[in-house]
Amino acid sequence: MEYELGVIGGGNMAEAILGAAVRSGFLSAEKIVAADPTAARREKLANELGITCVETNDAPAGCPRVLLAVKPQVMGDMLDTDAKHIRDDALVISIAAGLSTAFFDGKLAGRGRIVRVMPNTPLLVGQGASAVCAGPRATKDDLAWTRNLLTCGGGLSVEVDEKLMDAVTCVSGSGPAYFFYLIEAMVQAGVNEGLTSATALQLATQTCAGAAKLLAETGEGPADLRRRVTSPGGTTQRAVETLDAGGVKDKIIAALRACADRSRELGA
Ligand SMILES: NC(=O)c1ccc[n+]([C@@H]2O[C@H](COP(=O)([O-])OP(=O)(O)OC[C@H]3O[C@@H](n4cnc5c(N)ncnc54)[C@H](OP(=O)(O)O)[C@@H]3O)[C@@H](O)[C@H]2O)c1
Repeated sequence: MEYELGVIGGGNMAEAILGAAVRSGFLSAEKIVAADPTAARREKLANELGITCVETNDAPAGCPRVLLAVKPQVMGDMLDTDAKHIRDDALVISIAAGLSTAFFDGKLAGRGRIVRVMPNTPLLVGQGASAVCAGPRATKDDLAWTRNLLTCGGGLSVEVDEKLMDAVTCVSGSGPAYFFYLIEAMVQAGVNEGLTSATALQLATQTCAGAAKLLAETGEGPADLRRRVTSPGGTTQRAVETLDAGGVKDKIIAALRACADRSRELGA
């Protein structure tokens, strides 16, 4: 049996990607082999998805397509041991935050066609926003296949130059955290005004999900949609004026710049 996709690291992100691939029919379970050192992870993936799970990395590393899904801090040591199993002509996809295609090209000694992905955590529920970039020797087909793998369960992917991966990190990679931060503040405000935290959380979550859907589906810009709910002299206007007086927009822009700077530092 020739596996089509080998996966190294059967953690949360791999589980989400493989779950979508199998459930959507993009790949059949018998075409996938995944390695993870933890028996419980292997059992879970094998039982829930029907894929083959193994303890050592040689079988997945030897596949025509290899998804590298271990944490960035263990990637180097893992490749020092297992890069020798990766074929000259393999498509090698990394989802590790911050690691450049040059890093993988060095570890693979110039072998493989390398594609780098910056996913985000909503991928876990089929709503990821991922950016992909081509590394050494990657073809258009490699990028298309990778994007299909990432979006077969839903969500979005874009293709960017690698030099823009720090920008992607500050917008979508770390983006879910800004959204949760906003929700935390909305819930606190609701509680201050007398709501229970459970009710405030329900209202804030559905409001943000609904606003995102409105933005995605109407084709109107965020500034226009914001103006639409801001009647002159009304309640929303008072809130937005308070945000503006506090320089909140500038602070958000500065926060994302700090995020991109940190991404550049980590990748240097
Ligand atoms: N941009 C984003 O928002 C974002 C979000 C999530 C993830 N990511 C990227 O996605 C990757 C995976 O993240 P995750 O959250 O899925 O991590 P995770 O749940 O910790 O999964 C990694 C898995 O790899 C296993 N592993 C460790 N060493 C290994 C080795 N030498 N060979 C094979 N498997 C090994 C781990 O096992 P043990 O637990 O036993 O060590 C774990 O099961 C990371 O590189 C991360 O940077 C990016």
